[in-house]
Amino acid sequence: MKKILVTTLGVALVAGLAWATPEEDRLAFIDYHKKRFPNVAVEDYVNGVYAINPPAYQQWLQIEEFPPYELAMAEGKELFETPFANGKTYADCFPNGGIGIRQNYPYFDAETGQVKTIELEINECRERNGEKPFKYSKGKMAAISAYMAFTSRGEKLNVVIPDDPRALAAYEDGKEYYYSKRGQLNFSCADCHVASSGMMIRADMLSPALGHPTHFPVYRSKWDDMGTLHRRFGGCNKQVRATPLPAQSEEYRNLEYFLTYMSNGMEVNGPGARK
Ligand code: HEC
Repeated sequence: MKKILVTTLGVALVAGLAWATPEEDRLAFIDYHKKRFPNVAVEDYVNGVYAINPPAYQQWLQIEEFPPYELAMAEGKELFETPFANGKTYADCFPNGGIGIRQNYPYFDAETGQVKTIELEINECRERNGEKPFKYSKGKMAAISAYMAFTSRGEKLNVVIPDDPRALAAYEDGKEYYYSKRGQLNFSCADCHVASSGMMIRADMLSPALGHPTHFPVYRSKWDDMGTLHRRFGGCNKQVRATPLPAQSEEYRNLEYFLTYMSNGMEVNGPGARK
């Protein structure tokens, strides 16, 4: 009996999360950040932790003078423009030849009933053209994704949740993931990046969740390498001693769908550089 009660309560809680529409969620998200950091302009959240940490912001500006992601971007451009063995290119797989489209990702694909990210479609393009898929977290995948993001700099994120119950379910699933506690430390994403943003965790200041996906992929000094957004998700799962999920798993794609929707209207400024 007790077990049934607990389960019912769990379901009610999750259902409770579903009462607000995505647009109500987004507005509440912005409102929360405005109250938490009254001196930070909404458009500045695209700079992650540097939006709320002026000394680190100055150091970061210096790093951006010789951006550590530049090599990867050049590699990505070359890969992007090199034809596959069959003569086709990535441009043949994407709207507008793949240029200036990053802001529309991730999107809900009615045909498969799944959330599609740009990295997923890069590999789908390769496989359709008889090429082997790339690994999803770094390397060539991060390089191509970095180049594609660069061609969208300044475009505003425009994640659409169509009037389709499956799309809303994917959004709700991502949202539930974001607010669920996990790992041996029992932390949710929101515990660190919403409730504790601006606070220190060891040597790091926790960045606010608003604007999180705008600048990926990222060159991270700690990795000494580029990484995709899902690589970062995996790293954050490990921080709380939870098992990371595979990059481009359905859960991470739904998480990206929710998190990017929260930053709708903000400018794409990827690729980025982070400590
Ligand atoms: C224990 C605290 C903690 C938890 C829980 C946590 N993170 Fe993080 N996260 C960090 C730290 C520390 C960093 C590096 C400093 C920063 O930018 O916040 C970071 C960085 C990030 C970044 C990169 C920010 C940028 O500007 O490049 C993203 C995106 C992110 N986390 C998403 C998530 C998601 C999604 C979850 C849940 C799966 C999560 N985090 C859970 C601590 C946490």
